[in-house]
Amino acid sequence: MNFRAESWIPQVLAERRAQGLGRHLVQMPRAGGKFFSDGREWLNFASNDYLNLAGHPAVLAASRKALDAYGAGAGASRLVSGNLPIHEELETRLAELKGYPSALVFGSGFLANAGIIPALVGSGDTLFADRLSHASLLDAALLSRARLHRFRHNDPGHLQVLLERHGGGAGRRLIVSESVFSMDGDRAPLEALIGLAERHNALLMIDEAHATGVLGEEGAGACHAVGGHCPVNLAMGTLSKALGNYGGFVACSPSMRDYLINHSRALIYTTALPPAVVGGALGALDVLRENPRMGSELLERADYFRQRLIQAGFRVGDSTTQIIPVILGGAERMVQWSARLREVGVMVPAIRAPTVPVGTERLRFSITLAHTRADLERAVQALCDTSPVVQGGDS
Ligand SMILES: Cc1ncc(COP(=O)(O)O)c(C=O)c1O
Repeated sequence: MNFRAESWIPQVLAERRAQGLGRHLVQMPRAGGKFFSDGREWLNFASNDYLNLAGHPAVLAASRKALDAYGAGAGASRLVSGNLPIHEELETRLAELKGYPSALVFGSGFLANAGIIPALVGSGDTLFADRLSHASLLDAALLSRARLHRFRHNDPGHLQVLLERHGGGAGRRLIVSESVFSMDGDRAPLEALIGLAERHNALLMIDEAHATGVLGEEGAGACHAVGGHCPVNLAMGTLSKALGNYGGFVACSPSMRDYLINHSRALIYTTALPPAVVGGALGALDVLRENPRMGSELLERADYFRQRLIQAGFRVGDSTTQIIPVILGGAERMVQWSARLREVGVMVPAIRAPTVPVGTERLRFSITLAHTRADLERAVQALCDTSPVVQGGDS
């Protein structure tokens, strides 16, 4: 190997680390919101397994059944020979869940965004995205070569100004946002976005990665909860978070599905999802159907935790969901706080720039159904005991 060609890497990494922005992989003994390891119980608030389904017996059984029936790999892309009955069954079930006539599954949530946006807009078209949109949406926007305008976070007034200023002309217009923001746990003003998209004849795509399985009836997501018939053109979601598996999807009209099958490179040029993953996702949808209150139960637990944090004097931003940031600022300080919490068995990631704006560095809590009230109390206590600043709350 020509190591000389890599000689610039150590310096780039050293510069990153000097800014307190170094990243490294941490090995976990297993997945999920709570587990035993090294003779102690760990609370893991860094998992997106919100409904505690990744290890659910019914999900594992469904996954094994699909593995036995179809084998380990799909063997080809969907369009070549990888499109198995189980892929279409999953799409039918996802469409039902979301209240849409059809759905299309992708290799992951990242791939769904990377596949959808460049298929819909290109040079000569205009894209409007919330400033805090997930990296997968922004990368997809860059990939598309459409003109990108970022509106202030959750500010439909600013979006309207941008639409009026840049929305004319012949090209297509696409508005992109998230129903639940991944680093803040706040929600988009969906009705206002829907109104603006209609008035300006723009396509509307909402990333429901953190809303699927949690918000709305039976976990249908926030778009469904708005009411009306398929109020947004593309309700994107993942199988990798509340549904405890892997993969991405979009709920949409049949003609949009057909269009994406013909134009989405991230669907066309990649192998179909492995059967065991598809089976596991179907198993998770079964569990959700039998227990339609799982999402509401999760939101109740998260609300309890948020109130306890506020009482203790912590800043939690505008979170109203299972994602709760504790915002203090300072990359190094957050990394050290996260490390101190880990010493007492509480895992919570420090989130730094560029994932969040400089000055809003935070600990990001993901509450899951694995966390009992007693666990949440333990976490509040651990936060108070290890906090780098004296809190001004009443607890
Ligand atoms: C808002 C949002 N969209 C998309 C993704 C990508 O989903 P996946 O992990 O399934 O690739 C994520 C994952 O973190 C996310 O938070």
